[in-house]
Amino acid sequence: MNDMSMNTKTQVWIEICRLEDIPPQGARVIRATLGCVALFRTASDKVFALEDRCPHKGGPLSQGIVHENGVTCPLHNWVIDLETGVAKAPDEGRARTFPVQVRDGRVLIDRALLA
Ligand code: FES
Repeated sequence: MNDMSMNTKTQVWIEICRLEDIPPQGARVIRATLGCVALFRTASDKVFALEDRCPHKGGPLSQGIVHENGVTCPLHNWVIDLETGVAKAPDEGRARTFPVQVRDGRVLIDRALLA
């Protein structure tokens, strides 16, 4: 686990929803200033935030299948790593990822995402 106090830039964490608001092995979409961001919940209750656009042809990753730490895009089955946003080889490309954390059952994101 990262020590957030070690970050050089100041992050302000705000609650965006509760963990239970995201379906297990599913996603929930929030509107951020830079577009739609998908919050993914894995079977082990880890949460990741990625732009809701597949690096292939912009498919809605939030409607994909979540498995372990990856999501399979619903359009052409590319597999995107939820931690890094990188497409699994031989496919290439990367979806943008955003900082997110779960604390006491609450899902927190960097306020800068919504500013
Ligand atoms: S748009 Fe996602 S695999 Fe093609």
